Amino acid sequence: MAHRKEIVTIFGGTGFLGKQIVGDLARRGFIIKIATRIPESAYSLKPYGEVGQIVPIECNYLDASSIRAAVKGSDFAVNCVGILFERGKRSRFARVHIDIPAMIAKACADEQVKRFVHISALGCDKATSKYGKSKLAGEAAILSNYPAATILRPSVIFGENDNFFNMFAELSRFTPFLPLIGGGKTKFQPVYVGDVADIVVKALTSNMNKYLGSIYELGGADIVTFKEIYEKLFEYTGRRRRLIHVPYWAAKIQAVFLSLLPKPIFTPDQVESLKTDNIVSEGAKNMQSFDIMPKSMDLILPKYLKNYKAGGRFAWA
Ligand SMILES: NC(=O)c1ccc[n+]([C@@H]2O[C@H](COP(=O)([O-])OP(=O)(O)OC[C@H]3O[C@@H](n4cnc5c(N)ncnc54)[C@H](OP(=O)(O)O)[C@@H]3O)[C@@H](O)[C@H]2O)c1
Repeated sequence: MAHRKEIVTIFGGTGFLGKQIVGDLARRGFIIKIATRIPESAYSLKPYGEVGQIVPIECNYLDASSIRAAVKGSDFAVNCVGILFERGKRSRFARVHIDIPAMIAKACADEQVKRFVHISALGCDKATSKYGKSKLAGEAAILSNYPAATILRPSVIFGENDNFFNMFAELSRFTPFLPLIGGGKTKFQPVYVGDVADIVVKALTSNMNKYLGSIYELGGADIVTFKEIYEKLFEYTGRRRRLIHVPYWAAKIQAVFLSLLPKPIFTPDQVESLKTDNIVSEGAKNMQSFDIMPKSMDLILPKYLKNYKAGGRFAWA
């Protein structure tokens, strides 16, 4: 495939969503710079493109000049950097969701990057969690530095290698019960990773300027409660587990201890975020603006959740 001349810098390109975006951009012939703290973690992405098409570059997110060097000469930039829980001094919401995006947006403005897409989170404008509030403050920091940014607010993102369904499926391998926090009534609108990546590419490449300086809420084809999400998990993994009702206050206490794990299942802040529905608001700019029909969970989940069936993916149904 002939390379396009355009260069895209992607921050967080080594993550779950970032990898999908790198793959999509590579198929369209872009030259991709993956700005990352650990270039070695991006080496496995090189085969997504041709020789020299995907270039991992070391970036110190705490240093504005390192970020600026990463976007220098690029036509487009995407920011997928994010954390779900805080850890240590460097992994704080304020730093990762506000300071780093602000530095990236400023670098994009200074280096005259033509388009910049930032990944925020659905519901951040109504959030009571630290995670959500930091995501909202990050949006403001971006728009004040780069007013033409396109901001995407996805609901929970699903797809092979996601952090959500895979974590609960993994958990259901060894626990006889799963927690139904707050009765499991919180609503979600899970969105397919491929759809989010398609939208990022459209926002970067559209001939029209209609996506500039706008915020889009991205929800998938289905609105489901947490309890219904578990039902889908049970259906496609073939592992039915008892659901234990845990009120929010008790879940928060449990989460204090769980948050000590290297990769916590829940933190108190995540329990807090479950108090608010995570669905696209009425009247919000949404996926339809990109002419993309969202893929349903029932189409995608069976493809990778079958790996969790007792006896493996080739087990008898
Ligand atoms: N996954 C979802 O369900 C979901 C839902 C709504 C919104 N989002 C948002 O979408 C974006 C991408 O999500 P994702 O699931 O793809 O994220 P991810 O895989 O967890 O991580 C994305 C990237 O963030 C960087 N990162 C991780 N910890 C960091 C830290 N402590 N300090 C600085 N950088 C750090 C890493 O980049 P390097 O190691 O390469 O530096 C990593 O590749 C995030 O902003 C997330 O908040 C995700």
